[in-house]
Amino acid sequence: MKISYKTLAVLLLTTFISLPSLAQNSPVKGVGAVSKVSISAQKVTMNTDQNAHVEVTVYTPTVVRVRMDKQPLGKDFSYAVVTQPQQAKVNITQNDKEVTIQTDSLQARITKNPFAVAFYTRDGKVINQDEEGLTTSWIGEEVTTYKKMQKGERFIGLGEKTGGLDRRGSGYTNWNTDAYAYTTGQDPLYTTFPFYIGIHNGLNYGIFFDNSYQSDFNFGASNDRFSSFGAQGGEMDYYFFYHTKLADLITSYTFLTGRMELPPLWSLGYQQNRYSYYPETEVFRIAQTLREKKIPADGITLDIHYMDKYKLFTWDKTRFPDPAAMNKKLKDMGFRTTVIVDPGIKIEEGYGAYERGVKDDVFLKYPDGKYYAGEVWPGWTHFPDFTSQKGREWWKKEIKFFAETGVDGFWNDMNEIATWGQKMPNNVLFNFEGNITTHKEGRNVYGLQMARASYEGARQHMQNKRPFILSRAGFSGSQRYSAIWTGDNRAEDSHMILGIRLLNSLGVSGVAFSAMDIGGFTGNAPVGLFARWIQLGAFTPYFRNHTGVNTRSAEPWAFGEEVTEIARNFISLRYKLMPYIYSNMYEATQSGQPLMRTLAIDYTHDDKVYNGEFESQYQFGKAFLIMPFESTKNYGKVYFPQGKWYDLWTGEVKQGNREEMIGVQYNKLPIYVKESSIIPMQSLVQHTGEMPTDTLTVHVYRGDVANSFVYYEDDGESYDYQKGGFYKRTITYDPRRKSITFGDAEGNFKTKFKHVKVMLHGYDEKARFKVNGKKADTKDDFASFIDPITRFDPQGTANPRIGYSVRSLVVRNDNGRFTINF
Ligand code: NOJ
Repeated sequence: MKISYKTLAVLLLTTFISLPSLAQNSPVKGVGAVSKVSISAQKVTMNTDQNAHVEVTVYTPTVVRVRMDKQPLGKDFSYAVVTQPQQAKVNITQNDKEVTIQTDSLQARITKNPFAVAFYTRDGKVINQDEEGLTTSWIGEEVTTYKKMQKGERFIGLGEKTGGLDRRGSGYTNWNTDAYAYTTGQDPLYTTFPFYIGIHNGLNYGIFFDNSYQSDFNFGASNDRFSSFGAQGGEMDYYFFYHTKLADLITSYTFLTGRMELPPLWSLGYQQNRYSYYPETEVFRIAQTLREKKIPADGITLDIHYMDKYKLFTWDKTRFPDPAAMNKKLKDMGFRTTVIVDPGIKIEEGYGAYERGVKDDVFLKYPDGKYYAGEVWPGWTHFPDFTSQKGREWWKKEIKFFAETGVDGFWNDMNEIATWGQKMPNNVLFNFEGNITTHKEGRNVYGLQMARASYEGARQHMQNKRPFILSRAGFSGSQRYSAIWTGDNRAEDSHMILGIRLLNSLGVSGVAFSAMDIGGFTGNAPVGLFARWIQLGAFTPYFRNHTGVNTRSAEPWAFGEEVTEIARNFISLRYKLMPYIYSNMYEATQSGQPLMRTLAIDYTHDDKVYNGEFESQYQFGKAFLIMPFESTKNYGKVYFPQGKWYDLWTGEVKQGNREEMIGVQYNKLPIYVKESSIIPMQSLVQHTGEMPTDTLTVHVYRGDVANSFVYYEDDGESYDYQKGGFYKRTITYDPRRKSITFGDAEGNFKTKFKHVKVMLHGYDEKARFKVNGKKADTKDDFASFIDPITRFDPQGTANPRIGYSVRSLVVRNDNGRFTINF
């Protein structure tokens, strides 16, 4: 098309005239152009011609915080962030057009007109940039930052969110919700973890949006231009993270928002739940049956029926006449008791907790000073304000009631806040540590603060013992106080698989300790589904079987003999793996690395990992590759990422970078072990308090890549580890030097294991080994992780013992360094 000069002039003129006026009248208010800049060592403070106030701060060489508002920035307060900016080498310069911030790891360029931020690698590759035309803007109180969609960009994270591993093309809302029997596409669910990871062109970065108002994330949903994050109120306040390895983003994010503490060892054992076990005799029947059937277990959980008419901090005296004696007896049997705690306190004269709450004035109020009342299990209730010191202190005092009766675990439920009607009024006020705010800002952190109060209360009243805290609602930072479970799922195949993705996603969002209701909460799991789910459950962090109030029994023996054996096999395997699992939890406390690892963590730029067929595969620790399959499938396609993978059951080696169709057996979840893996195991115990034999069995898988594993042990119960009461050693596999080295033991805890038996996978009978330079005797051994199903084949002919032959050698463990050469 040919345009005359005249038309062009008219066009230009109208554009010039109409654009500013459009901007001025637009209901969308942009951040504007930078009008004033002041630079200090690690911070740039700016004002814009649209009266926006901006601060860009270098937190660490890999973390930059961007904060802005259309009024002077408020008090710097966060429930999520626990770290101050660290001193770093930073170079900040400016010219007319931009301000440049340079750290050892990245460069941030701030364009002045309009204000926009872009992050680059040191060698100039774009990592992430504001969408040029949209940058940051407000619609009323709602603030949103728009990022240019990069070519091929993918997104993972955001915690407990349904949908695929790659969130590209989807949008999500954070508004903690009681999502009873949610569907596999439902959003929002119970928690808010506004941290995501963007992946493109061989790069990966993280963004944490620290705002507790209802927030919205758009990863290219209904648009092809941007990804965005925004909230209904509050400041634009986000942290940008850049590392070359995705795993390091999780480490940085948990450096900022905190990491989990070591959990009590018993909480890593199998937990038997239902809504609800009562009276006391029923609790003992369950505990006794687990022992009789030799199904290892560590925990029994009491749901709401243990209370007197659902009144918190009471026991139903008929059902549970002597809770302290019951808990003691359970403990003697090797069981710990976890009780459910809901935030709603029944409004009832004469009820102690209610009266003490009124006396201490701890309940949430309307602006006119009247208590807010909502209806939950006990009827009309008030809710403690966990965002106030006063509210938490009150709760901590009340928690003593349980701690004194020998309760070890606190299951924080209904803390979104859940009320019948599910529409808590927005004019309810929250103290927010003295910065009084409304339900709009308070809701999403309420669960986090309740878990905090439970944790602090338990710490106060359980002396030197570690409590276990579980929470349904949560916010970034929850990992500091509690594990998170994914609420009221359904007894359906799709929920089992979705559950795996939810936990994987929680893992990349800082929550290493997580759970789903094994067997499904609503509905009745068909036999095959339960059989599959309990196998998978053995490979999740907090392993709890739970089901709803009107469902069929779902204990491991409720599905027939065969399933009982399958459950026993896999729960037993879990217990044998305890040294491996506990060491991995220790790793989570140090680096934030989750136990359940989506393949996106270690194989970030391998497209196959995001493929709908393979997106739910995950690693359990770094050694195991777990293939979740619906119970209805007898075969299916799996993907082996780069490297070599050993079939756990047969020892057969699979080459990586390859898809394969495999058969799926009812009794054997497909599990593979990565080459060069180091897996410490112990003999079978029925609960974590039982002493295993004095031999630690370490499985080492021959491979071409170097690997190391930090073995960690302590008393599993107290905080003595903080004063040196631990035992730790690094085990290294070095294919170049052909060596397996057990480093010197650190710490002053005495290990349970006098011997180390090394099981050498992938070496044949001809292989020769030396220990510390001296020829070592090896033995032909049998690597077997589960038993066959015997009940249906008493002779064991059709079901030979599942396993294969490997070389093994035993070393006396004197805690000193030793090297095995091959
Ligand atoms: C809702 C929880 O999600 C569920 O696990 C529990 O059993 C019920 N509340 C009853 O307490």
